Amino acid sequence: MNSKIEKLFEREAEAELGGGEKRIESQHKKGKLTARERIDLLLDEGSFEEMGKLVTHRSVLFGLEKQVFYGDGVVTGYGTINGRLIYVFSQDFTVLGGSLAEAHAEKIVKIMDMAMKNGAPLIGMNDSGGARIQEGVVSLGGYADIFYRNTLASGVIPQLSMIMGPCAGGAVYSPALTDFIMMVENTSYMFVTGPNVVKTVTHEEVSSEELGGASAHSMKSGVAQLTAPNEIQAIKDIKRLLSYIPQNCEEEPPFASYRSGNESRPDLNNIVPENPNQPYDVREVILKVVDGESFFEVHSNYAENIVVGFARLAGRSIGVVANQPAVLAGVLDINSSKKGARFVRFCDAFNIPLLVFEDVPGFLPGTDQEWNAIISNGAKLLYAFCEATVPRVTVILRKAYGGAYDVMNSKHIGADLNFAWPSSEIAVMGAKGAAEIIHHREIAAAENPEEKLKEKELEYAELFAHPYRAAARGFIDEIIVPSTTRIKLIKAFKMLENKVDKLPNKKHGNIPL
Ligand code: HXC
Repeated sequence: MNSKIEKLFEREAEAELGGGEKRIESQHKKGKLTARERIDLLLDEGSFEEMGKLVTHRSVLFGLEKQVFYGDGVVTGYGTINGRLIYVFSQDFTVLGGSLAEAHAEKIVKIMDMAMKNGAPLIGMNDSGGARIQEGVVSLGGYADIFYRNTLASGVIPQLSMIMGPCAGGAVYSPALTDFIMMVENTSYMFVTGPNVVKTVTHEEVSSEELGGASAHSMKSGVAQLTAPNEIQAIKDIKRLLSYIPQNCEEEPPFASYRSGNESRPDLNNIVPENPNQPYDVREVILKVVDGESFFEVHSNYAENIVVGFARLAGRSIGVVANQPAVLAGVLDINSSKKGARFVRFCDAFNIPLLVFEDVPGFLPGTDQEWNAIISNGAKLLYAFCEATVPRVTVILRKAYGGAYDVMNSKHIGADLNFAWPSSEIAVMGAKGAAEIIHHREIAAAENPEEKLKEKELEYAELFAHPYRAAARGFIDEIIVPSTTRIKLIKAFKMLENKVDKLPNKKHGNIPL
């Protein structure tokens, strides 16, 4: 073979080996795959085209000038997932701990720019010790170059982050600026300051896993919308997520093939209990309405009083937002408002129609909620729905009380259609609370106050605990038999498929952050 070609092959082989056999082995011992193995699993077989394989680091201090690291600790390029173009970077922990330095950052920036110009999603696989300590401020500059592009790309192309190892310090802010964060249980962690700094500053003793592992961020902070028990499952889930979303904000989400059949769902008639205080799992409603096995829940361990996720309805991709009566009676609080708002904004940015299932007794009372700004946080969800221009349909299942009625995608804030089940109660508040307030004198003066309260409660319920007043005003477009919900929704979203709606011209709004 031509010696020049041989030389190229030698270098490429060296680049592909990353930090060498031993380091690959140590990666496997930790239960982690290598940067290249991850890309192989993620992309369609044989579709990966690498860019910058022979880029080398530029450090000239601490003896690094004597070594050559092809690729500089990150594998970057493009390929396809189910035939659709994807840009990807995958940090290689076997090379200098996957640390980010000038050349490493430039490689990531290059594919970010290409993803933007060509309108395709970007997937980042993070496994890095952070800023390369030997390169100093150049590393920090590299991070900032990435943050800047993450922000400019937000809402233009989907950006998905997979945390497959350490992600610490300022490095966390690139994933934080992206649309979804997936974390792998037990092998990944994210924090701004690690356990040692925490101990010095606050005297708290905490492990990396406790401080910033997958469960901490999926259950406590809400930073991670997705977790998986291992990398293989994480990659499968990210591919599934991509199947619901378009390539960029100018495109429609992909359709799945669908053959229509009997769309009646009689079981729905018996899901909502007669007793308005009895809980039920709203997932049962979602699963019966959407296409079989199409529901892909995200953020499932955080603020469980609201359920959000992607699904398909007659093959059409939709975003589902549902109050969850099985947790805190489905009340809206700070965390559920933030969770819902972020999901609504993602769907709206990427042309994914929104379906809301509503059963909400109002906002959670208490000093904790008020002092931690339920006002501003609840307003986030309200704002997100108000500004969403995608097709928006609500089905009121049971309670739609107070401000929460307005917030949960009411017609007043721009929903296209509101349906209600006959079990709906659309009122300022529940009958008991209402009777206590407006009849308190009469109740106090009664011979048997308890009986009087019951009487007044029934009176109020008769007047308001139903959907007919709202329907009489046109706030509800139709009261539907639950078993027909799927049919009604398929028709509704089909009718809305060419919807055009524009927000007033502005630089950008000022969502109450
Ligand atoms: C250079 C690094 C590195 C870094 C790890 N390495 N992190 N080299 N810069 N940031 C090197 C190690 O020296 C080691 O090299 C190899 O990578 C593997 O690291 P180990 O420590 O052996 O691995 P492990 O035991 O798994 O521990 C992983 C780790 C630890 C927890 C991530 O390496 C660590 O604490 N690294 C430093 C983390 C850090 O403080 N980074 C800066 C954060 S501040 P050898 O040659 O020995 O194999 C930051 C600011 C960003 O990132 C700001 C953006 C605005």
